[in-house]
Order: sequence, then structure tokens, then C-alpha cells
Amino acid sequence: MAREYFALAARRLARRRLANLALLHGEALYLLAAGLPRGFAATVHVYFPDPWPKSRHQKRRLFSAASVDLVLGLLEPGGRLCFATDFLEYGEEVAALLAAHPALVVERVEGGWPGGARTNYEAKYEAEGRPILRLEARLAGAATPHPAGVVEIAAASGAAPG
Ligand SMILES: C[S@@+](CC[C@H](N)C(=O)[O-])C[C@H]1O[C@@H](n2cnc3c(N)ncnc32)[C@H](O)[C@@H]1O
Repeated sequence: MAREYFALAARRLARRRLANLALLHGEALYLLAAGLPRGFAATVHVYFPDPWPKSRHQKRRLFSAASVDLVLGLLEPGGRLCFATDFLEYGEEVAALLAAHPALVVERVEGGWPGGARTNYEAKYEAEGRPILRLEARLAGAATPHPAGVVEIAAASGAAPG
């Protein structure tokens, strides 16, 4: 989240005296790896994450073989992941990555979320008529390691996946 939006959200939170919200401002991959507990979330919402289209930047993506377990690991058994992007190529890669997880049931949400746009970017892109890829995935059991992540880590460490 950009600093100005963080400050705006913090002001709104204080004004409404909401006690069931926490705002964290920082590097998402670091927060996922070191700042958030495992298996605590009924729903994880990820909307319009930066696609990092240049190949040398793709290691920064929130959804890659190396990082997907950081996101999925937040979910409690039966938890849901909601995702949207206007970067369709990245969206298709995310859909394939999620579908390859044996405990995830992935559906495309066609024609928009019930209740309408969920974020500023979504409202803006809808108004511009941009195509948007939306996914909802449900974790049928516990968040076991993603097979692609296991291969990635084994390759990085020079070991054969067990
Ligand atoms: C395209 S905007 C989408 C904002 C919002 N989710 C929405 O849908 O309106 C992407 C946001 O992700 C933030 N972002 C990108 N990479 C990040 C990272 N590695 N860690 C934390 N935030 C990041 C950017 O600062 C920006 O606010």
C-alpha cells in the first residue's frame, strides 16, 4: 500500500473507532514470511497486486512458485482466497498455480463480485471497461506445501524433491 493510502486508511480507522482492524505498512513478502501467523485467516483478499512484468523483477511477485505458500499458509482449513487482476497474463499464471495445489478448489468469478467492486482500482478499471480476471479459491484441507514450491526449493538447494 502506498504511504498516502496507508495514512488515509489510518485516519478513517481512527475516526470510526474500529477495533477489529489492524493496518500493517511494509514489504508484503516480508510481512507474510515473518510478521503474520500461519493458518489464522478465514479469507485472504489480494486485489490488483503489482504484476512485475519484467522477468528480472518477477521474484517480487506475490504469486510465484517460491512465494505462493506464504500466501496460502495464512489460510485456516476451509479458508478462502479472493484475487483479482487486470493483468490477464499474470492472472492466468496465478489461476494455473492455484489449480495445481491439491487442496485448493479454484473458481473464476465471471461478471464481477456480488456486491460490486471491492477496491479503488477495481472500480476504476471497471469504469474504464478493462477486462478483469477474478478468482476465488477454497482450501479443502490444511495448507500443505504447494508441489511447485517444493520443486523450486529443492532446485535452489540442489536437492531432489522428496
Ligand atoms: C495496483 S495497486 C492496488 C491497490 C489495491 N489493492 C486496490 O485494488 O485498489 C498495488 C499496490 O500494491 C503495493 N505493493 C506493490 N508491491 C508491494 C510489496 N512488495 N509489498 C507491499 N505492497 C506492495 C503498491 O504500493 C500499491 O499500493
